[in-house]
Amino acid sequence: MSVSQSAVHLINHLGRDYLRQALEHDVHTGLTSTPKWLPPKWFYDATGSELFSQITRLPEYYPTRRELAILREHAGDIAVRSRADTLVELGSGTSEKTVLLLDALTAAGTLHTYTPVDVDAITLADAARRLASRYAGLTVHAVCADFEQHLTLLPRTGRRMVAFLGGTIGNLDPAAREMFLKELRTTLRRGDTFLLGADLIKDTDRLIAAYDDAAGVTAAFNRNVLHVINRELDADFEPDAFEHVALYDAEHNWIEMRLRATRDMHVRVGDLGLHVSFEAGEEVRTEISAKFRPDDLRRELVAAGFEVNHRYIDSTGDFSLFLASA
Ligand code: SAH
Ligand code: AVI
Repeated sequence: MSVSQSAVHLINHLGRDYLRQALEHDVHTGLTSTPKWLPPKWFYDATGSELFSQITRLPEYYPTRRELAILREHAGDIAVRSRADTLVELGSGTSEKTVLLLDALTAAGTLHTYTPVDVDAITLADAARRLASRYAGLTVHAVCADFEQHLTLLPRTGRRMVAFLGGTIGNLDPAAREMFLKELRTTLRRGDTFLLGADLIKDTDRLIAAYDDAAGVTAAFNRNVLHVINRELDADFEPDAFEHVALYDAEHNWIEMRLRATRDMHVRVGDLGLHVSFEAGEEVRTEISAKFRPDDLRRELVAAGFEVNHRYIDSTGDFSLFLASA
């Protein structure tokens, strides 16, 4: 597909069969475990991505605004330090904040390719088209892929900056995070950089409010995973019979989102031939969102083989961006 003078290419590593097998595997494993859990990547069909976009505009959800503030102030510095000609963005979603990086890299005169990477093919393709028409001459190589599985398949040409924004790193559990950082490091070459956004530890009440907003958008986002399973695997969850729960685990420094059964239930997952029972009050963990101390995250980056070149923190101390190099 081609839009104005810019080119859009879409590569899909998540064919229907792959996605189905991965979803079947995760749902079977998670719902037959004690306690039950589901991985957060299945929130993001087109509805889930739209709900996430709404979350980013909620008064209680500060991370997007704080990261945007850092980018407004420092994108120029980041662009000059990275001198990247290729911006690869993991979990790019609607790529809304990315325009600040693309503008800065364009102003620095280095940019020629943008590679957004996301599991949600629809949101990815929309964002790719929108950005290709906004930046004349930019090549957009959109890649539909799982950043926990497919890092080695991402294009490796050019001087790259890999951006992982929004605090999505916090949605990986510590073991998965360690593996992800090590694997990413092995795919980078000298001169490549890694721009990592991370949410910082703060007052518990503010954290909980950010994940349990008054308008109920996060609750709808959380329940969306059950709608996805109903549609894709012929299940008969009643999403409204599950209550949204957001709590802060102060031992691990992470928010946990859960779905709590409001009564005893038997759910059939038709395509798996699986019957799952829930007792009233039983919870399914659907997401962790880890919050960091900047020095701890710096140590994790160094342990994975990165050199940390710069750390940006917004004026309220809520959110940070790390610029690291290979
Ligand atoms: N970067 C954007 C969006 C964050 S929401 C921002 O900062 O606002 C998280 C995004 O990561 C979603 O678009 C979701 O579809 C994507 N995502 C979640 N898990 C993923 C995975 N394992 N591989 C690739 N993309 C993933
Ligand atoms: C994508 N990720 C960084 C969000 C977060 O804050 O952990 C997902 C989210 N979950 C609930 N609200 C937002």
